[in-house]
This record gives sequence, C-alpha cells and structure tokens, in this order.
Amino acid sequence: MTLQPEILDKSPSDRRVPQPLPREFIWGVSTSSYQIEGAATADGRGASIWDTFCRQPGRIANGDTGDVACDHYHRFAEDIALMRRLGVRAYRFSVAWPRLLPQGSGPPNEPGLAFYDRLIDGLLEAGIEPWLCLYHWDLPQALQDRGGWGVRDIAQWFGDYAALVARRYGDRVRHFATFNEPSVFTLFGYGFAWHPPGLTDRSALLRAIHHVNLAHGAGVDAIRNAVPGAAIAAIHNVQPSRPAGATAEDAAAARLLDAYWNRAFPEPQLLGHYPAELAPLMETVIAPGDLERIRRKVDWFGLNHYSPVYARADGHAPLGFAWADAPSEARRSPIGWQLDPAAFRDTLLEVHRRYRLPIYVTENGAGAVETPNAAGEILDRERIEYLKSYGGALREAVAAGADVRGYFVWSLLDNFEWGAGYANRFGLVYVDFATQQRIPKASAHWYARMIHAEAMEPVP
Ligand code: FCB
Repeated sequence: MTLQPEILDKSPSDRRVPQPLPREFIWGVSTSSYQIEGAATADGRGASIWDTFCRQPGRIANGDTGDVACDHYHRFAEDIALMRRLGVRAYRFSVAWPRLLPQGSGPPNEPGLAFYDRLIDGLLEAGIEPWLCLYHWDLPQALQDRGGWGVRDIAQWFGDYAALVARRYGDRVRHFATFNEPSVFTLFGYGFAWHPPGLTDRSALLRAIHHVNLAHGAGVDAIRNAVPGAAIAAIHNVQPSRPAGATAEDAAAARLLDAYWNRAFPEPQLLGHYPAELAPLMETVIAPGDLERIRRKVDWFGLNHYSPVYARADGHAPLGFAWADAPSEARRSPIGWQLDPAAFRDTLLEVHRRYRLPIYVTENGAGAVETPNAAGEILDRERIEYLKSYGGALREAVAAGADVRGYFVWSLLDNFEWGAGYANRFGLVYVDFATQQRIPKASAHWYARMIHAEAMEPVP
C-alpha cells in the first residue's frame, strides 16, 4: 500500500486513542458469499433465491445481479493478499449453501467444498483467522421450492448443512456463526417484500421467524458435535427502534418494530422466550419442546450495527406498522443512512447488559457512491470520519464496561448491495466492476495504519 494521501495525517486523534483496547482485540473485515463470489453457475453451484429474485423485473436497482459480482470465486488469492496488506487478524465470510448442496440437501458438490478449502487454507497461510458464517441469505432455490423458511423441515435441512460444513472445515475453522441478521431477511423477505421470497404476509413471517430459530438450534448442535472446541454464535443486527412521530401510536409501532427487529431472535436463542409483543402471535407455530431446542449455549454475540430504525403506526400494513425514514434533520451518510455513533455506543452497552456474552462487532461501515479521481485514487474522507467516530463510540462502550472483543469493517470490497445493486459501495477497497481491478481506498490505508498503531500501543 503505497498511497499516503495527506488526509491520513489530518487528524491528530488518530494515534492518541481515547481508550486503548486490549492487545488481543481483533480487527477484521467482513463479506458474504452472494455479494462477492460471482461464478453463479461454476463448478456445479445450484441456484439461490437471490439468483431468482434478481431476475424479477424491478426488484434490484439497474437490474443488477450477483452473477459475476467481484468474481471472488476466481480472485480470492488476490483478495487474501489485500487483507494481508491491511493487517487484519480475521476475515468473516459466508459459505454459499447452494455451492455445497446444489439441491439444498442430498449429495454434496465436491468442487464447491474444495473452493472453501482453498480459501481457508489461503487465509491461514496469510496469518488470517477464518470466521465462517453459514447463512448470509442465499438459500438454495430448490429449498424455497419446497417451502423455504415457511416449513418446519428446514430446521433439519439446515442442521444437515451445518454438519457438512463443520465436519469439512472444523479442523481449520474455530469461529462459526449460524445466521447473519435473521431479522433482516425474515422481515424484508416475508413482511415488506424487499427481499426474496418477496411476500407481505404476517403468518408466513411468523413461521419463518420460528423456523429460523429452530434451524439455529439445530445448527449449533451440529457444529458442537462435529467441532467440540468451536466458538459458536449467531449474528444479529441491533439498532435503536424509534417512533417516526410524537404520537402514542407511533411509540407503540416502534416497540413492535423493536420486537421484530432486535429481539425476535436473540431472546429465544439466548433467554428462552419470545418478546412479549410477539409471544401471543407465535403460539400457533410453537410446538412442545421448541423453546428448549432453540435456546442453545453459544460462545459469543455477533453484532451488526448501522443506523437507528424508525416505525410509523399503519393500521393497514400487514404488521400494523410501516417502515419510516429518519427525521429530516438527521445527519446522514452519502447514501442517506443516519449517522449516530452514540446509538452504537448505547447498543453495545445494552447488548452487553442483556446477554452477557463477549461481543464481536461483525459489521459496521459506511456506504457511498464513488468513482476514482483523475489520479486513480478514492479519497473517501467521509468513510474515514465514519470509522473514527464509530470506533470512538466502541471505545467509549468498552470504557463503560461492555465486553467487546473485536470489530469487522463491512466491507473488504465494494460488492453487490442487495436491492441497491452495485450503486452503493461499502468497500475499503474499490472494485471496478468492468475490469475487476481492485484499488484500496484512502480508508483502507487509514485502517491499516490504525491496526498497526494499535499493535504498537503499550498494553493497558
Ligand atoms: C447488512 C448486511 C450486509 C450488507 C450491509 C450493508 O445488513 O448484512 O450484507 O448489505 O448491511
């Protein structure tokens, strides 16, 4: 990394960190399979629900798809080299279920399994710990055709998939996560129709929530059996849920959104019950013994955090509330996401207080619409400011007692950002999608320097 733009030197606070973090604190980066791999039909990969959804007109900005994405499937060695230059200690990625099991269950696809062997071995050779997430939204289409998250059998299908992954990679991978952001893919897929399978149906949503929770329990058991020393978690997005207006109805809507968004998964998984707002609705789907099957001992809490969420009362909406925007006066990122580092600090403290598990921030980062300047550089000052302010909030939370042990930037690379397609870029590394050229942005240089400086800090 040769670029040393002067913006890296502007802030004296870079080196005088407000609160030193322990030497063992893990700095990492995150990605997910569908967003970066491409190679959608290579080596026997089956279709995923995102392949299907992207082909439905009007679903994705610009008609984009993940067919090629960052072509990481073929360029993973270059991407590992980029991570090595960043100096990250860990890399969180996800495995594509349809690459390993093209039909979702049944015979595994050896070339797909071999791809993750190569990736994991390459990471270990580079001194980077692989953190493996089983499900980052790319369900095999074949399982959707059999009912997807709407049917109870899926807990078993997921458990079998988890066993396959754990047996194959458990000799080299210690950190496993079952699900990424279950509340996002269930609420957006079954409540708001923004993600596949594109439904707005409350009873389908409730079934999906419960079956994902059962699958989590089955997945934890399968990993634990195959890899007794594994460190297992689920990754939850947690953000303050706020009312759009000052009415009592909006306040109730925000509480309901909070139940779906922040608590429908961690509460049953970690505390053994559904949030009070949802419990009566869940009664129809819960079978005897289910809550015990869901509540499994895990070892850490994966926390993804971006912006607060807002709700407005809406009696006609299937869930009784509508998704709302942040107030117009809110500070926003270039893609319009609210900036509120204090909310991040408060969330870390709240998650610590409620669940008492070591927290790893598995996603946090800033999106932008970016192009290189005439010199071919991407001087992403706003992302650097974002990382500084959210890093500061994290340090405040640690100083106030939150047990936070690692932080993974979303994302290593610009990638396929779901409904926004390739328009919104979150990478520390710029990707020219026409040529697949990678260019580390100024934020990549900043992050590398910060990690290096942290390693130099005296042990507190
Ligand atoms: C999270 C997703 C991740 C990425 C970021 C920006 O909700 O887990 O895949 O899209 O948002």
